[in-house]
This record gives sequence, C-alpha cells and structure tokens, in this order.
Amino acid sequence: MTASPNLQPSTGPAAPGESPEAMRERVAVLLGRSRERSTRLTALDDGELVAQHSPLMSPLVWDLAHIGSQEELWLVRDVGGREPLRPEIDGLYDAFQHTRASRVELPLLTPSEARTYVGEVRDKALDALHRSPLRGRPLEHEGFAFGMIVQHEQQHDETMLATHQLRAGGPVLDAPAPPRPATPADPGAEVLVPGGPFEMGTSAEPWALDNERPAHTVDVPAFVIDTYPVTNGRYLAFVEAGGYDDRRLWTDTGWAYRVAEDLTAPRFWSRDTDGTWWRRRFGVVEKLPHDEPVVHVSFHEARAFARWAGGRLPTEAEWEKAARFDPVTGRSRRFPWGDAEPGAEHANLGQRHLRPAPVGAYPAGASALGVHQLLGDVWEWCDSGWHPYPGFRMFPYPEYSEVFFGGDYAVLRGGSFGTDPAAIRATFRNWDHPVRRQIFSGFRLARDARPGAEL
Ligand SMILES: [Fe+2]
Repeated sequence: MTASPNLQPSTGPAAPGESPEAMRERVAVLLGRSRERSTRLTALDDGELVAQHSPLMSPLVWDLAHIGSQEELWLVRDVGGREPLRPEIDGLYDAFQHTRASRVELPLLTPSEARTYVGEVRDKALDALHRSPLRGRPLEHEGFAFGMIVQHEQQHDETMLATHQLRAGGPVLDAPAPPRPATPADPGAEVLVPGGPFEMGTSAEPWALDNERPAHTVDVPAFVIDTYPVTNGRYLAFVEAGGYDDRRLWTDTGWAYRVAEDLTAPRFWSRDTDGTWWRRRFGVVEKLPHDEPVVHVSFHEARAFARWAGGRLPTEAEWEKAARFDPVTGRSRRFPWGDAEPGAEHANLGQRHLRPAPVGAYPAGASALGVHQLLGDVWEWCDSGWHPYPGFRMFPYPEYSEVFFGGDYAVLRGGSFGTDPAAIRATFRNWDHPVRRQIFSGFRLARDARPGAEL
C-alpha cells in the first residue's frame, strides 16, 4: 500500500517517512515541473539565449546546459552508474572554473545542442530513478540526490528569472496578478516573540541540504518582528526623507558602496519629473504599488532603512523562530503554517505570479506566532553572516555550502515569488554578497523587546 503524496502543482519537498514508491512518483512530477519552467524561461531567440544580459549573470544557454551537466554528474553517472554522455564539456559548465561574466566567451553548446543534451540526460536520469531503491547509501537514501537535483534546477530557474528581469526589451513572460488581502493590512504591524529556546535547523527533513543540518537548540531572547515584509510604501518614505543621502544611516562599507554605485532608490525604480514613482518588472513599467513588499534592495540598503526606522534586521535565528516556533506545543514546524505541503493559499511561490503579493494576502500562511509572508514573495536579508551550524557535516560536496562559510556574505531566508515550493522550507538557508540586488531580495525589521513588554 502506497501513501500517495498530494501531487498538486505546488507539491513540495519530500516528507519524512515517505515510502520509496511515493517518493519516486513525487520526484518524477518535480523533475517534470522543473523542466517545464526551464523550457519556458529559455523559450527565446537564439540571440537572446547566448547574449550576456548583465555581467552579473550567465547567458541563459549556459544555465540550461549547466542544469543538464549537474543532473548527469549526480543522477546518471553516480546514482545510475552510467558512462559520461559528453565528458568533454564538463569543464565548461563547472561553476567554479569560470566567472559568470566570462561564460559568454566559452565555446558553449548552442541552444539546440543544449536542449538535446538536457533531454538525453533526463531520459537516463528517469531510468536511474526507476532503478534506485531510494534507500541505503546516503546519496540515494530518501531520494536525496534526486531532491538535490530538483532543487538545483529550480534554483537556476530562479536565477534565469533574475536574468529576465535584467534583460532589455519588451515583456516575454506573463502571469496572473497575485491575490489581494480581504481587508488592507497595517504594514507597520508587529509581533512579540517570547524569549526561550527553540529547535533550529533539521535532522529529519529528507531533502534538507547540509547547511540546514543538524537540528540544534538555540536560546533566543524575546524580540519584536514585523508582521509583514517592509513594503514599497514604507521604503519610499525612507527614500523621500533623504535616506540615501544621510551618511549617518550607513555603515562605512555600505556608504562606500552607495557612493560608488550612485544608489538613490531600489533597483528598477524610477521617478518622474512630477514626482510619481515607477518600477520596471520583466519589461513592463508600472506605477509603484505601495502595498507590495519592497524587492531588489541590497543588504546595505536594508540596514540603512532599519537604522532610519529605529529597528534592525532580524538575526537568522530570530527569523527562523518567528517562522517555525509553535508556542503551544513548543516544537518547530516544517513550514510557518504547519507541516502541510505549500498550497496556493499559503504563499506566493513557484513563479505563479511574477511579483510579490500585497501584504496581508496570505493569512493562511501565517506562522503560529502570527507572522505573515515568511515564505515566498521576497527573500529576506538577515543580520547574520554565512556560518555552519554546530555539528555541521559536509554532504555531498564542499562546493555546495562549505567553501562559502565565513566569506563576505549575508544570509537570506524564506524564498521569493520566483522560488519553487520544492526548493523552500522554513529551515532553508540562502546567502549572497551584501551588495547584491538583482536577486528578489527584501527584508523585514526586528527590534529588542523591552523586559515585560507586551504589544
Ligand atoms: Fe549550479
């Protein structure tokens, strides 16, 4: 008897204790969904696919063949035990051998060669899926390698979505608008999170990556956190109050960056001579929606806003406690709303909508403590560097997380509207340079709780 998972378009990562049969079905659906997205994001003229739309990004055709190359490496060669399909191209698609800016110069597969290659790899990967017991050695246990490759393709789909945002020209992507709240939410609302220990990270989540492990107890003093991510409207008040010109609000590094880049507002914002603010989104210029979370801000901008607003960014532990801690049971949840797979009612994920949703649009996705929109919409900068948890063990390769520990990075949490449900959970950790803002990054504020304070 198979416990069949609920294979909706929003099917998430494998659940603890799933049978190999259910896991196999889930993996096949998720691999198919990732490929649909990759195909949609590369449905462009060859000229657009091989072009460099920004020095920050790879040509889209590189992402596509790289997706196949990683899938071949792990699922076809390692799990499947097959001979390499095209060993001569391995080096071209090794992300550590070539910077993003230099990939356009490489003798890459053409778009049609890349499509053929990823198709051939997929056939062999599905064969490996049917042969693998999905048990036994750690790489195959609970379908880990398959989950890793599903997440890898989805992560590149989000990267390719960011490339689409950077490309010039008219719109090529389309999606319906996200839901609106039943009644307008108060963007300044806050939640008091009680002090005390909670379980951070996971040892049980089958597809959790090495950096999310192991589960460990962290004692977090009481703090206050925003109910919603900071909106465009709140951020605009900072811009109009001269926040970008007030040296006192910025750290030394942040100010040097602000001056060097001549920053005056979030990326993709512009202002008319009559004072109206606009934003460009996937080739469409539209009036700035005040009730949506701000997106395309760097860590430095988030921190300057926080100082101006009299708050700070949450630490990574605070963010995770606000997302997972259930004060009634004392346990930590898989997702803010509980352990159920992410549904369309819970969070703005999976490129269903090509923009963040207005704050208050996902009441069913709130955490036990009443914090909203923690997953989906925008990645949230945290005031934490990129470090391993106590007891960290590298798996299955050091270049996934380990080589980045201690570098010039800040943590981002929660995923964005461009993140697939299979590639996010409340324990998921992301990191990037504090100057990056082509990613779908926003933030929310926290502040210390006064002893004995109630909201
Ligand atoms: Fe990659």
